[in-house]
Amino acid sequence: MEVLYREWLPGQLTKKDSALIQAALKAAENAYAPYSGFRVGAAALLSDGTMVTGSNQENAAYPSGLCAERVALFYIQSQFPGKSVKVMAIAAVHKGKQTAEPVYPCGSCRQVMLEHETIHHKPIRLLFAGTGKVMEVESTAQLMPFHFTGSLLKNK
Ligand code: THU
Repeated sequence: MEVLYREWLPGQLTKKDSALIQAALKAAENAYAPYSGFRVGAAALLSDGTMVTGSNQENAAYPSGLCAERVALFYIQSQFPGKSVKVMAIAAVHKGKQTAEPVYPCGSCRQVMLEHETIHHKPIRLLFAGTGKVMEVESTAQLMPFHFTGSLLKNK
């Protein structure tokens, strides 16, 4: 499958997309990342215009922590069950500075993002932000060819 993505310089973005990335950066300030020092923020715009953010939350028992994207998505699905995410921006701060490279979500977050798309039958437009460039992808499904979905769990 051809991956449909666009590469932008931060200055080329629309005001709305820039604002969502700024909200992700702001959310990164609330990261609890004493172990990695890598502070990630995710900002999601819902179908009704509500913005929800999340940040990574680490734990001394390392696998118990959770990435920013899943913190935001699970919060959205528990607090706004009927609402779908239209756009999600992800950005990170390392050693006090926003990363130059875009931040791409881990495989587990992609799987959770994909489930959200499946629930709502709508794509999530994604913005992976860095100071050097911003990558835009039209849906999580684009990032996950041959993905696992719940339809396989149904007896047919
Ligand atoms: N992390 C995220 O929150 N999102 C990503 O997309 C990549 C990684 C977090 C997990 C961990 O707290 C830290 O970044 C270092 O891996």
